[in-house]
Amino acid sequence: MKCKVCGREAVIKLKAYNTSLCADDFISFFEKRVEETIRKYSLLKNGRPIVAVSGGKDSLTLWYILNKLGVAADGIYVNLGIGEYSLNSLEKVKKMAQRLNRKVYIFDVCEIVGKNIEGIARIMKRVPCSACGMVKRYVMNRVCLDMGYDVVLTGHNLDDEASALFGNLLYWREGYLWKKDLTLEEKDGRLSRKAKPLFLCSERETAAYAIVSRIDYIYEECPLSFDAKSLVYKEVLNRIEEISPGTKIAFVKGYLKMLKKRKAFEEEGDGKGMGVCEVCGYPARGLRCAMCRLMEKSDTSKQIAFIEYNPEEA
Ligand code: AMP
Ligand code: FES
Ligand code: ZN
Repeated sequence: MKCKVCGREAVIKLKAYNTSLCADDFISFFEKRVEETIRKYSLLKNGRPIVAVSGGKDSLTLWYILNKLGVAADGIYVNLGIGEYSLNSLEKVKKMAQRLNRKVYIFDVCEIVGKNIEGIARIMKRVPCSACGMVKRYVMNRVCLDMGYDVVLTGHNLDDEASALFGNLLYWREGYLWKKDLTLEEKDGRLSRKAKPLFLCSERETAAYAIVSRIDYIYEECPLSFDAKSLVYKEVLNRIEEISPGTKIAFVKGYLKMLKKRKAFEEEGDGKGMGVCEVCGYPARGLRCAMCRLMEKSDTSKQIAFIEYNPEEA
């Protein structure tokens, strides 16, 4: 198998693009795609971005590429206190912070709330994933706004988005269906802008990029967030992709087109009816936001705070 660009030995075949590439040309190809996605969909709007990094391949790849493309971006990491898994992922995040020489804001749930995410889930009477999602959203939003960044970037990839879309369609969850987007706009200075620059990059491509760029990431998935359904959706979509390359990207791009049409007709619903937390001033459904209710129930005297890990001072 030869590289379609330079004729050297290829390392990856990309059926969806009808091409095969060597390591160097694959790196250029992938970076160009990310750059084009950012430009075409105005993901950064010349603002100062911050990347939510989990220690996994997607978010570390995103963080690395941005800095390589000359977009100075710091990081946010939420330490959920899940034993070895969190210890290892924090180590990968710090390692990348050193490689890029960028700062990362760390929110340590055990230190601040006094319990790890399983303890928090019990207090909140929710499953760990749901409590974890709440804490992560709150922290990403607050670090972005408090520290003067303009947009939070996450590492969601094509497979994540296609499988979520597929699930929403299967059960016609209309309430969720039209909420998925490449970006979520800023609201009243209390809800930060969000964007997903890897939206059109598949899991396989992202993993290949991470490997050829020697990005040291955590292979294990979170032990608490086993989502059997989403794994099956990903499998089914990959099976379809095998017979009909390019389907996943067409599915997601088609959805984006439909969404644009809908938006032209309706006013955006996001954040509508959103109140403000009487304690912290960030978005809330009732009088207090979920995070402030959690802090109250966990009888800690701590205030929300972030550790600033600066590789230059470490
Ligand atoms: P997931 O929901 O685990 O698939 O993660 C989706 C995205 O959320 C990742 O690509 C990261 O950008 C972000 N993320 C996940 N876990 C964390 C974490 N512990 N700290 C900061 N960001 C995270
Ligand atoms: Fe959220 Fe594991 S990453 S529960
Ligand atoms: Zn609050």
